[in-house]
Amino acid sequence: MKLESIQAAESKLLLNTYERNPVLFTEGHGVYLRDEEGNDYLDLLSGIGVSALGYGNAAVENAIVQQTKKLLHTSNLFFHEHTAELAVRLTEISGMDRVFFCNSGTEAWEAALKLARAHAGLLRAEGKKIGTKFLAMDHSFHGRTMGAVATTHKEKYREPFAPVMPDVEFVTFNDVEELRAKFSDDVCGICIEALQGEGGIRPATQEFLQAARELCDSNGALLLADEIQSGMGRTSEWFAYQHYGIQPDITTLAKPIANGLPMGAMLCTDEAARAFSPGMHGTTFGGGPLACAVAIAVIDSMKQKNILEHIRQVGGYFKQQLDGLKKKHDCIVNVRGMGLMLGIEIDSADVAKRAAADMMAKRIIINRTSDTVLRFLPPYILERTHVDTAVAALDEVLTGLTSNHAALAGQSPAGEHAHG
Ligand SMILES: Cc1ncc(COP(=O)(O)O)c(C=O)c1O
Repeated sequence: MKLESIQAAESKLLLNTYERNPVLFTEGHGVYLRDEEGNDYLDLLSGIGVSALGYGNAAVENAIVQQTKKLLHTSNLFFHEHTAELAVRLTEISGMDRVFFCNSGTEAWEAALKLARAHAGLLRAEGKKIGTKFLAMDHSFHGRTMGAVATTHKEKYREPFAPVMPDVEFVTFNDVEELRAKFSDDVCGICIEALQGEGGIRPATQEFLQAARELCDSNGALLLADEIQSGMGRTSEWFAYQHYGIQPDITTLAKPIANGLPMGAMLCTDEAARAFSPGMHGTTFGGGPLACAVAIAVIDSMKQKNILEHIRQVGGYFKQQLDGLKKKHDCIVNVRGMGLMLGIEIDSADVAKRAAADMMAKRIIINRTSDTVLRFLPPYILERTHVDTAVAALDEVLTGLTSNHAALAGQSPAGEHAHG
């Protein structure tokens, strides 16, 4: 099927949930995706932070082929050989004690919320005064299921599905005073992304994470760190919280963990894990042999190739080049991020939208998040030459757009709306 016929069929058959770019990808190699006509696109988004080792990675392919020949699924009623092997690796890199495997980010976050509520229930049964409330952050994003949307800040994700899970209060991200003021014995968990992704690549401050940790310690509430976008090496540490030297009680993983096979995981301390007993939570597919075998291959291959150091170096170079662009382009308000999780904030949502589209026209994939932020989540195997290509293209795109924008804004009193 060709792009046009696929578009026509999808518009009749699928729910209207995505605004897709009109491109049909058929193959991927390294950091490039190839469309049906054989054009290569430099991919600086990696399927929203998923294809971390790029496309056609030999270790991943080998794990898929070998495991597919042996066993695809057992259910969690039985043991298979890879669950514990993967749990050893994940607990070792995260500093956590235990793992619950699932199939996606939102499912991992849902498990985290349930565990925090159940843990508070356990503490209450043990005589402690602790409530059921979550503090979540503005600009946060935790997924699309009912608990996850309840802790996600943007109203448009929650409002159509109201009433969502009750007992969530939002705090201005990085406002320590507000966090302290809103914290009480009613709180069973503080929900944080150490480096917010969908919310616009916004890092937590050291003081804020520290305050969250101390508040949780003061009454037995749990610190929930969502590392679904920032985890598994993306920021040059295995987990973004490791940049701060602060250990959460629960963390969640998904996106790159199995390099494109659906997988999620919730990791927690032994203390938190006390709250779950058989039957309280579960999943049919979670932690199946194929996803586990691939995740093991991903972690081992990252270690063998010292990928964290590579991310630190290429990410540092990328950020430096974006800082250079900021000096040249007044429309860039800010450059943020760590490792290969970077964003540049543009002073106009319209320019940001057009910049992402114009980069796509140059066959370089980036995306726009939180209206004004151009986001880069490239595969970890990105090299400096790819950065140079992308930054030169972005330079050209922004030069074109801002001169156009100024000219058009001059012609029309509607200004930005002239482009809408
Ligand atoms: C921080 C964070 N949490 C949760 C999710 C939800 O993950 P999924 O789309 O796999 O359900 C995302 C997805 O973008 C995310 O970035």
